[in-house]
Parts: sequence; structure tokens; C-alpha cells
Amino acid sequence: MTIFIVVVAYLIGNISTSFIVAKLMADVDIRSVGSGNAGSTNVLRTLGKKAAAITFLGDSLKGVVAVLIARFFGLHENIELFAGISVVIGHNWPVFLKFKGGKGIATTIGVTLAINYIAALICLSIGIAILIRTKYVSLASITAITIFPIFLFFQSREYFIFALILCLLAIYRHRENIQRLLNGTERKIGEKAGVR
Ligand code: G3P
Repeated sequence: MTIFIVVVAYLIGNISTSFIVAKLMADVDIRSVGSGNAGSTNVLRTLGKKAAAITFLGDSLKGVVAVLIARFFGLHENIELFAGISVVIGHNWPVFLKFKGGKGIATTIGVTLAINYIAALICLSIGIAILIRTKYVSLASITAITIFPIFLFFQSREYFIFALILCLLAIYRHRENIQRLLNGTERKIGEKAGVR
């Protein structure tokens, strides 16, 4: 049952909202335009606000759904943590899109809301404040997810490790953004540019 739930979560992660939205609305592969990332930030810069909002909601929702499925059908409490990590991995490295997916932030938001909504909302608020202040989605995302393990440290060792893994996944997927932030070439929200 545990393996089944983890596989289901991975497959849910494979449902790339940005890929579907970009195909339906503009007949483009989102991974071939803008930053090349299959995520709501890239949908915003290439297709606009409405498409980005749908993408963000869809990708967040799959994080919530994967955790809730594990909660209802899992045989032990920690299975929802495995499902949470698995759905983000499915989003980042989807087998159906030749392992070229997104950076997992919207899905991570959904997962964290379903696991510990108070900690998630605090981190989300900090992220939004950084986004408003700096206009860098990547900086806001990395900072918010880096704070999350601090809260889960007080919950249990398993939850803390789970939060650390989500954090490491986000940092790893944002390694090029981090490089651009350091050399001052990172795009601000909505900024249009060619593929980098
Ligand atoms: O979470 C994704 C965002 O932080 C950066 O996306 O498209 O600018 O690489 P992008």
C-alpha cells in the first residue's frame, strides 16, 4: 500500500498544469519558451496572468491531493510525508515529459499546506513579502522553503527531515536561478526574455 501511494503521488506530480495550459492556450511547449521552466512563473511571463493563476492553482492542488490521498488510505502517519516528497519529484522530473518538469514551488506550497498549514502560511507570507519587495520569485521561493524546516523541527524528527528534503529539492532545482541572483541577471516577476 505504501509503495502504491508513493507511485500514485509521483503520477499526480506528472500532471504538469503549465504544460497543459500552454498547449491548450497557445499550442506551445512551455519548456521551449521563456526560462524553459514548466511552472507558473514562466507561464506568467509568456502567457499572462490568467494562465499563470490557473497553473499555480493546478500545481498547488496536486500537492494537496497527493497528501490527502495518503492521509486517507495510508497505513501509517509518515506515508503522507513520502507522498508529499513523491508528488514534488513527479512534478520536477515527470516520466511522461521525459523528466523535464518544473521547480516544484507551487506543488510544495500545496504539500506544506496539507501537512502543516500554519507553518506553511507563515512561510508563504514571508515569501510574498520578499516577492513584493524584490520582485524575484526565485528568491522569495527559496527563502520561504528554507524557513519551513525550522517550524517542523518542533513537530517531530520525521517531519523535520521531510521539510529538509523539500528544501533541498527546491534549492537544487533553483541552482541556476541562484547563480543568476548572485551575478545580477535573474529576471524579475513578469519580465520577458529569451530562453536562458
Ligand atoms: O519557482 C520558479 C521560480 O522561482 C523561477 O522560475 O521560470 O524564473 O526560472 P523561472
